[in-house]
Amino acid sequence: MRMILVTGGAGYIGSHTVLALLGHGYDVVVYDNLCNSSYECLRRVSLIAGRNFEFIEGDIRDTAKLSQVFDDFEISCVVHFAGLKSVSESIENPLKYYDFNVGGTNNLLAVMREKEVYRFVFSSSATVYGENAAVPCVEDMPHGDMTNPYGRSKAMIEDILLDLAHSDEKWSITVLRYFNPIGAHESGLIGEDPLDVPSNLMPYITQVAVRRLPHLQIFGNDYETKDGTCERDFIHVMDLANGHVLAVARESEFGIDTFNLGTGKATSVLKMVREFERVTQIEIPMVVVGKRQGDLPQVWADVTKAKEVLDWEAQYSLPKMLEDAWRWQRKNPLGYRAASSEKVDYS
Ligand code: NAD
Ligand code: WQD
Repeated sequence: MRMILVTGGAGYIGSHTVLALLGHGYDVVVYDNLCNSSYECLRRVSLIAGRNFEFIEGDIRDTAKLSQVFDDFEISCVVHFAGLKSVSESIENPLKYYDFNVGGTNNLLAVMREKEVYRFVFSSSATVYGENAAVPCVEDMPHGDMTNPYGRSKAMIEDILLDLAHSDEKWSITVLRYFNPIGAHESGLIGEDPLDVPSNLMPYITQVAVRRLPHLQIFGNDYETKDGTCERDFIHVMDLANGHVLAVARESEFGIDTFNLGTGKATSVLKMVREFERVTQIEIPMVVVGKRQGDLPQVWADVTKAKEVLDWEAQYSLPKMLEDAWRWQRKNPLGYRAASSEKVDYS
């Protein structure tokens, strides 16, 4: 069976994708520097899958270490998640973001070319549609203006990939633009585990629900939307993971192709909170505060292309996303951090 290198495979989306790849019979090497993840997550992936896989602790900017991985394993495809993702941190420290995301990816691609591995799946983001994007977002819309270095780093990488695919017809590159990934594997053993106070809505809600945080702040309720709060296209992380499995399986495709991975449906922030309360029977205290700079009123995906070309479409409903996000947080109120000192409930 083919060996897939998953950079950033210990992270939130990477770990769920490793699980999906193992479930489809692929062999996997995870390459991760654990700067935003933990070994405990990988241990649990192996437990759920009932299979082992390789793990190399390393940085994508480390050329020698990466080269060694390609020498030691017969890699047929690289799924590239490794990178930094905090919008606010990227504004404070843009050089770090361009170094990790753009520099790191450039380094990885150079090593791949040297080792003659040309199949690449990339984690991009709906953020590349920019601040004035029309909805629904369609893949052939040009990159828009971005408000932060994180978004620009993703757009720059997309441009690099386009140039690379045009430079040599051996490349086979799939760019996946995620909308708002939430939820967790239904075992409740793996999930999203932000190191700091979450900036994203879903982990903020679940941390309020376990009383790690006192209340949710809703950033603005006077947008021109149905209930005045912003609307997003939330997608279950296992749906995303399965999209990656289909992208990896496109063995006969060459060049570069880009796909939105979303549900094609928009849900408001207020509806998310109300639906979470309904599903879990837990009240979420909230206060409405001012708008967060850079937030768009509405973002959702046109998902026609992924359906037509990849034969992929989201399967999980919003209540299921919320149930699974809650199961993970309830079983792991402190995320993976508690695992070394406290007993984990695997029931
Ligand atoms: P994450 O932080 O949980 O995972 C990223 C992983 O990459 C972590 O395990 C981290 O330790 C590792 N990593 C970071 N820099 C590295 C480096 N230089 N070398 C090796 N490993 C490194 O994030 P995630 O939510 O799983 O996101 C995965 C990818 O998807 C990222 O590229 C992110 O930009 C992109 N993305 C995420 C979202 C989202 O909302 N979560 C949306 C769109 C796109
Ligand atoms: C969703 C909505 C907030 C937190 C971000 C990145 C994007 C992509 C996905 C990586 C917004 C509101 C949030 C809170 C709130 N990541 N909100 N209170 O901003 O759509 O996208 O993550 O590529 O690049 O920008 O997601 O979860 O932060 O916010 O009211 O405490 O929830 O205003 O309307 P966003 P989000």
